[in-house]
Amino acid sequence: MRTTFLPFALPDIDDAELAAIKEVLESGWVTTGHKTQQFEREFAAMVGAKHAIAVNSCTAAMHLALEAIGLQRGDEVITTPYTFAATTEVVRYFDARPVLVDVDARCLNIDPAQIEAAITPRTRAIIPVHIAGLPAELDAIHALARQHNLVVIEDAAHAFPASYKGQSIGSLSDFTCFSFYATKTITTGEGGMICTDNEAWAERCRIMALHGISRDAWKRYSAEGSWFYEIVAPGYKYNLTDIASAMGLAQLHKAERMWERRRAIAEQYNDAFQPLRELEIPHNRSDSQHAWHLYTLRLHLDRLSIDRAAFVEALREQQIGASVHFIPLHLHPYYRTTYG
Ligand SMILES: Cc1ncc(COP(=O)(O)O)c(C=O)c1O
Repeated sequence: MRTTFLPFALPDIDDAELAAIKEVLESGWVTTGHKTQQFEREFAAMVGAKHAIAVNSCTAAMHLALEAIGLQRGDEVITTPYTFAATTEVVRYFDARPVLVDVDARCLNIDPAQIEAAITPRTRAIIPVHIAGLPAELDAIHALARQHNLVVIEDAAHAFPASYKGQSIGSLSDFTCFSFYATKTITTGEGGMICTDNEAWAERCRIMALHGISRDAWKRYSAEGSWFYEIVAPGYKYNLTDIASAMGLAQLHKAERMWERRRAIAEQYNDAFQPLRELEIPHNRSDSQHAWHLYTLRLHLDRLSIDRAAFVEALREQQIGASVHFIPLHLHPYYRTTYG
């Protein structure tokens, strides 16, 4: 038995992050600036996107993407119930309607076969979620989107680094939104990134991420800047700081190594759990790269003498942190009472 507690998630932080943050702290410029621009450039290059806009969460990223496409009250956005609160709350920010279609029971990602039946004249977008880091069936989703003129916004909070049929997640849809929350595969404490190839949408996201101001405000105070700026819309305060971006760059530089380690651990778990009738190991696909953000075991409760809560508790007693990802959205009081 372990003698120390193994937390559900631990950030991998070493001298590189400490040195990078120290450099920013000593530079005299601690909020959004050159480091954030560098983080955006390197991230965009890594995932193969034309534009990457750093923001302070994936929630902010998805909010800005929906704002950029002009989502209106009463519009509908199709997504999966098997996700975190953020995926649908951003739709509610517009008084628009999240339409939940079921997942494919094997891979737990949204089932493209069920999307079409949910499309109405009010549907504007589809938000597939790459649950646990396993890429969703993007070809089928893109085909539906093209056919019905819908925008695809990937919730890739779990999916860095990941790829779908050889192409990086981040390079494939109208928008891809990433999370750098504390438990994610790379972290800036809190943070996120919007990736898009569309120049106009990228510009709108940049403007709305910083108060609707029409040029990078930070330049106002730097040698290359001037005092002039214009507010073109009532924007938000979603910018990422240079402190966070410096940490993000250090994390980005070791993302591949950290992924290799997660993959090796997942393989070890698979080997260990596959023979057990009580457990079902996570689905994987041979044509794509799983980010292995989460390792999700399904319990065959009919073959177990304890329930799920007791299982998680028993792991805790063995000093192993585990959690339930996720309680589907339609089972939560807000979605139950609002949408039946
Ligand atoms: C699937 C999914 N989408 C979005 C988010 C939101 O990310 P953030 O905390 O960066 O806003 C999370 C966070 O856990 C998530 O799991």
